Amino acid sequence: MESSENQWGSRLGFILATIGSAVGLGNIWRFSYVAYDNGGGAFLIPYFFALLTTGIPLLILEFSFGQKMRGSAPFSFTKVDEKWEWLGWWSTLVTFVLISYYSVIISWSFKYIYYAFSGAWGSNPEAFLYNTHLQLTSGIGELGGVNLSVLLIVLVVWLINFVIVYNGIEAGVEKASKIFMPILALLMLIIVVRGITLPGAVEGINKFLEPDFAALLNPGVWLAAYGQIFFTLSVCFGVMIAYGSYLSEDSDIVNNAFITALANCSFSFIVGIGVFGILGYMAAQTGQPIEEVVAQSIGLAFVAFPKAINMLPAFNTVLGVIFFVALGIAGISSSISMVEAVSAPVMDKFNLSRKKATTIVCGLGFIASILFTTGAGLYFLDIIDHYNMQFGVAVIGILEAVVIGWYYKAEVLRDFFNPISNFQVGRWWDIMIKYITPLFLTYMLIRSFVMELN
Ligand code: PHE
Ligand code: NA
Repeated sequence: MESSENQWGSRLGFILATIGSAVGLGNIWRFSYVAYDNGGGAFLIPYFFALLTTGIPLLILEFSFGQKMRGSAPFSFTKVDEKWEWLGWWSTLVTFVLISYYSVIISWSFKYIYYAFSGAWGSNPEAFLYNTHLQLTSGIGELGGVNLSVLLIVLVVWLINFVIVYNGIEAGVEKASKIFMPILALLMLIIVVRGITLPGAVEGINKFLEPDFAALLNPGVWLAAYGQIFFTLSVCFGVMIAYGSYLSEDSDIVNNAFITALANCSFSFIVGIGVFGILGYMAAQTGQPIEEVVAQSIGLAFVAFPKAINMLPAFNTVLGVIFFVALGIAGISSSISMVEAVSAPVMDKFNLSRKKATTIVCGLGFIASILFTTGAGLYFLDIIDHYNMQFGVAVIGILEAVVIGWYYKAEVLRDFFNPISNFQVGRWWDIMIKYITPLFLTYMLIRSFVMELN
């Protein structure tokens, strides 16, 4: 099936699509607050450690594994040994669960474009988020009704996902990425320039970068760094295996992986500076310490940012709109990669056409999303996200490294991708895949599991 429906049109298109997958909601709010929560500037140490020892090696692994086996994650693992097929399905399931709430957060971003425009969040964005926008009930036992206006926008998000992925790789995902990514870069540039030129910005940025070295002794900080690297690079979700399977057989692997990782991490870092610049400005205006402002996860994008925007001296409506449009675009270019990663195994396994598979996946996905549009949606989101990311993904990382490193043999895969790559990786790559990644991750997973039990 070497039709353009299942083949990238160009190298640039592939890179833009992988960067599109990588750069997402995770870069814009998750990175800043996870970094801040886990030692601030010192977080960059475990972050780069995880990036170099596991993130980039796994990205190379997933691109080349998909390219070599020419199929989705379950299909590719079956080719190693049928008994590993379930590992591919597990990552497919984790991705399906992720997208069911990820698309709801995208819908909030869309809705916030309108709120920014109309100034709907008023002077108390926090109360607005929880009471008016989310219509939060007091707990999981109390579902509350479905929030119909959010549900409608969730439906729109799913329709966009559907239309893009339904059209195939070149005419759908690649084309969308070529439109989305330049726009996103431009919008973020505007936000960053505005952020760093505000009075008080420097204090905010200092807070972001200020290292707390004591945090490095905490295993939870290291696991958070691995979690963030997996999430941000979209590895362990079957996404990059599927994207790799649409490469022609002699496409470069190593260089593409480095470009994707570098672009993604610089984006995170630069956005972090912009966001903290704006928060610094806000802190300077209100006297409220930054730690309070970024204390909650979703609060950063949907509470702190609206508050900061309220206070901007000029063009605040425009900047608010720009921020939420950027968030929406970053989100969609990631969610289409998840839809692709879930649809591809369905096509492979049941021999369905792309059109049928995407219809089924998007239909079921939309239904699963409904849970997160209820009054208890945010509670479910927090809990499910925690377990899905912390344990679901970390275990996939360990098993993927073991299966490829030891069963398939890292050397064999490296002998495949090195000759077709612009530059070669040495034996260090085998060591990362066979030893460092599984050992480190297992150790940290156990430690944080034990901490969770206590
Ligand atoms: N990398 C995306 C982000 O940072 C999220 C994502 C995770 C996309 C898993 C695909 C698969 O938002
Ligand atoms: Na994206």
